[in-house]
Amino acid sequence: MSPDAPLAGVKVVIDAGPTYEDIDPVRFLGNRSSGKMGFAIAEAAAAAGAAVTLIAGPVALATPTGIARRVDVRSALQMRAAVLEAVDAADIFIATAAVADWRVAGYSPRKIKKGPGGAPVLELIENPDILAEVAARDPRPFVVGFAAETDHVHEHAQAKLVRKKLDMLAANHVDERVGIGADDNELELIWPGGSETLPRAPKRELARALVARIAAHYHARTPA
Ligand code: PMT
Repeated sequence: MSPDAPLAGVKVVIDAGPTYEDIDPVRFLGNRSSGKMGFAIAEAAAAAGAAVTLIAGPVALATPTGIARRVDVRSALQMRAAVLEAVDAADIFIATAAVADWRVAGYSPRKIKKGPGGAPVLELIENPDILAEVAARDPRPFVVGFAAETDHVHEHAQAKLVRKKLDMLAANHVDERVGIGADDNELELIWPGGSETLPRAPKRELARALVARIAAHYHARTPA
C-alpha cells in the first residue's frame, strides 16, 4: 500500500445527501443533509487513489475533483437502485446519505388542495435499509455506515454497528454547530473491538482523516 495513494486500485461507492420523498408534484418529505460530508469523503477517497462512484441525493454541490462517476437520484428507492447497481463491483461502500426512513404510501399525481375536510393525513411506509441490505450480501464490500444522533450517540452507534453487521461506523452528534447541514463535524469512529474520536474539524479535513482510517482497516482485512 502506497502511503500517498492508500486506495490506489480500490473501487469505492459512496452515497451522500438527503433523499426526498414526494407527496404530490409540489411537496415532499426531506431532511437537512447538505451532502457536504459525503462529497468531502468522495474527494478524499479519489485523492487517495480510489475509483469513486458518488451517488448523490438532491444537493446543490459540484462534483469533486477526481470522481470517476456521479449518479444523481431523488428518492430512497432510486438511491437503493443506484447503490445496488454500483456496489456489485465495489471493494468499499461508505453510506453517508441521510436516507429517509419512510416514504408516503399514496403519491398524489395532482397537487393536494386545501379544502373543508381539513388537513390531509399522510400514511407513511418504511423504506428499505440500503446499508443493511449491502452488508447482508455475500460476498460484500468493506462496509462503512454513519449514524446521526441527537442523544446517546455512543450507545446508538454501537447498537447500529452490531445490528447492521458493519465493518466500521462513523457516529456524529447532530446540533447547530456540527453534523447535518453544518460545515464542521466531529466523528466517533467505531469498529468491532475498537474506537477512535476524530475531533471537530471542517468536513474536508475530517474526510481525509476518515479515509486514511478506512484504508488502513480495509487493507488489514484484505491484505494485498
Ligand atoms: O450531508 P451533511 O449536511 O454534510 O451531513 C452529514 C450527515 C450528518 C448526514 C452524515 O454525517 C450522516 O450522519 N449520515 C447518516 C445519517 C443517517 O441517516 O443516519 P441514520 O442513523 O438514520 O442511518 C444509519 C445508516 O443507515 C446511515 O449510514 C444511512 O445512510 C443508512 N440508511 C438509513 C436508512 C435507510 N433507509 N437506508 C440506509 O442505508
